[in-house]
Amino acid sequence: MKNTAQPLLEEYQLGDLKLKNRVVMASMTRGRATNTALVPTLLMAEYYAQRASAGLILSEGTWVNPKSIGFINVPGIYTREQIEGWKLVTQAVHDKGGLIFSQMGHIGSASHPDHLNGELPAGPSAINPQTQSYTPDGFKDSLTPRELTIAEIRQTVQDYKQAGQNAKHAGFDGVEIHAQAGMLIPQFLSLSTNQRTDEYGGSIENRARIIFEILDAIIEVWDSTRVAIKFTPVMYTHVGIVTPDEETIPMFQYILKKLNDYNLAFVHIAGPAQDLTGTPVEILQNDYFSHFRHHYRGRLMANLGFTQQTGNAILKEGKADLVSFGQLFIANPDLVERFKYQLPLSEANLDTYYTGEEKGYTDYPRASHGGAITQAGIK
Ligand SMILES: Cc1cc2nc3c(=O)[nH]c(=O)nc-3n(C[C@H](O)[C@H](O)[C@H](O)COP(=O)(O)O)c2cc1C
Repeated sequence: MKNTAQPLLEEYQLGDLKLKNRVVMASMTRGRATNTALVPTLLMAEYYAQRASAGLILSEGTWVNPKSIGFINVPGIYTREQIEGWKLVTQAVHDKGGLIFSQMGHIGSASHPDHLNGELPAGPSAINPQTQSYTPDGFKDSLTPRELTIAEIRQTVQDYKQAGQNAKHAGFDGVEIHAQAGMLIPQFLSLSTNQRTDEYGGSIENRARIIFEILDAIIEVWDSTRVAIKFTPVMYTHVGIVTPDEETIPMFQYILKKLNDYNLAFVHIAGPAQDLTGTPVEILQNDYFSHFRHHYRGRLMANLGFTQQTGNAILKEGKADLVSFGQLFIANPDLVERFKYQLPLSEANLDTYYTGEEKGYTDYPRASHGGAITQAGIK
């Protein structure tokens, strides 16, 4: 139904999936898979189920293989046990009438030997990404990684495919490839971390190759309309040397043009987290999402810093089809209802983002709506 005042609350047909609204919960690592096997837990199932009134949930980034790990207590999707754990999550979300995609990622050179049984991480080139990894002993600086061999790149692509298959077994409704800053894919895209001289380095086409190889592999398992990809073309401040360069704009033009042929569920783009003045992508500063809209004909999901007001506005203007919200979902499990009834929003406590505990995770109450605050929620 049309909702001219609040397009965020309109139903949305995403391929053969009917979304209850256009409010998407963005992926958020919350560090609650507090077991050595990195298996999703019942607590996680409860957390996601609490947020099932979103039109679609994107799971936290999950590892496609043991070499992709870069942050403590983040679940994987490469073992049978992990698949079983994810089944608890997808079942709980489905029981509440929600939909959930698995976000599948690999952290590449930004990992740390502490996650890899003492082995060096590997990336496109042997170049330190100059970032940090959250290890069991706290944040540690990244090191100079090994360069991935071609055979390892091919194996990684297959691992994405297997992870996609696993996500299907686990009952997810689709998958989102995690190509946000800090991860392996942007390390291939970036001139500073990719200095390969083979078919994965050099030209824009070569540096972007891995994206299409991963997509081609995954759509052997999933219908393309259930496959999405998330990029943060300019949000790079906290991720070391992978920053926008003079080829970022032509790179994304190339990627989006090619993605036009894929009939994906959506392309998810995060906006700038800072002023772009003086950067090689300054031209994107104004009317950011229109630049991407111009090159991509499929569904576009907009992210970063959106509010109820700006989310409704971008949909009204037709510059995006869906809007995702990250941090607002942390303290507002019933964000959609709060938008609907114009209820005040709660503030999240930054100190409990990654603590591994229930506190600051599943204990944010639903809003008061014509009565007392209730965990049971708004009927
Ligand atoms: C605690 C936290 C964890 C995050 N983890 C992920 C992640 O696993 N994958 C991802 O693509 N983005 C991750 N993000 C980024 C969010 O998906 C989103 O892009 C970002 O928070 C901006 O949206 P917002 O302004 O609505 O919060 C994370 C953000 C936060 C706050």
